[in-house]
Amino acid sequence: MRNTVAPFPATRLRRARKSPALRALTRENALSTDDLIWPIFVRDGEGVVEPVPSMPGVNRLSIDKAVEAAREAHALGIPAICIFPYTDPALKTESCEEAWNPDNLSNRAIRAIKAAVPEIAVMTDIALDPYNANGHDGIVRGGEIVNDETVEALVKMALAQAEAGADILGPSDMMDGRIGAMRRALEAAGHPNVAILSYSAKYASAFYGPFRDAVGASGALKGDKATYQMDPANSDEALRLVERDLLEGADMVMVKPGMPYLDICRRVKDAFGVPTYAYQVSGEYAMLQAAAANGWLDGEKVMMESLLAFKRAGCDGILTYFAPAVARLLAGR
Ligand code: PBG
Repeated sequence: MRNTVAPFPATRLRRARKSPALRALTRENALSTDDLIWPIFVRDGEGVVEPVPSMPGVNRLSIDKAVEAAREAHALGIPAICIFPYTDPALKTESCEEAWNPDNLSNRAIRAIKAAVPEIAVMTDIALDPYNANGHDGIVRGGEIVNDETVEALVKMALAQAEAGADILGPSDMMDGRIGAMRRALEAAGHPNVAILSYSAKYASAFYGPFRDAVGASGALKGDKATYQMDPANSDEALRLVERDLLEGADMVMVKPGMPYLDICRRVKDAFGVPTYAYQVSGEYAMLQAAAANGWLDGEKVMMESLLAFKRAGCDGILTYFAPAVARLLAGR
């Protein structure tokens, strides 16, 4: 692209910034409610709204409350909600079979939300960590996270979620070969229209800390996730992963975390031009909320600025815990 600049004073770039009207006319990117996916945490019980201490403003919701949240999201114009389960520790095992139980918490939440608010797209998480006694996303054998056996488990999990009515499956596990295996299984089982938003470039990040509190996986996790999640030092590898997932049948791809990885978002969008999403993860949310709570940052302004940055980096949408607050602000409510 040529971005021609005549010599001063023929060009004075400040002319386009002189008033709100000129700035509005020359603005390149905009954040809209259409860009938001709202991640929520569900737990057992009824009428329960339980705050997550490391994520001020975020709660674990019992299914009835999650349905209310979905209604609120739909009324605000948020197109999609993403469900993460806080699983009863007594249901966590080394073989993770609760993950593909058709009546597990996540699948019950999907059914309840789709019954009450069919218009909202329900996205899921596919990984074994909420069900795994050792907190890993895959099955552990002799200290190793085994790939192919994990993929078989993930396929069962994907089918149970599709059966429950999920619109978008979100494999966040980073095993090799899982997208192709899920896509084939979905076709064979009569779910040709279930979309896959692959967590293609998911980094082994310390920014997931508060999320692991929220789903109750922090205490359980033994070791780290570096043998399956990406090395934060890598960039070219993200393009290989995205291309691989697209060739295996992913409809949409994700970069995660968000703000520290905007360079990756831009490279992915430029290289493939496919629907590209970023996850503004729990640690990013916690940082902004903590600084705002101390009066060190203007919470509303940094929320909007941080999300606009994803649009500028080429993202089509953002998973963010700020979704309802943003939607209310954009709607002037
Ligand atoms: C589970 C999963 C994680 C997140 C989404 N899905 C945590 C992890 O990989 O340890 C993180 C989301 C967040 O931090 O907000 N596989």
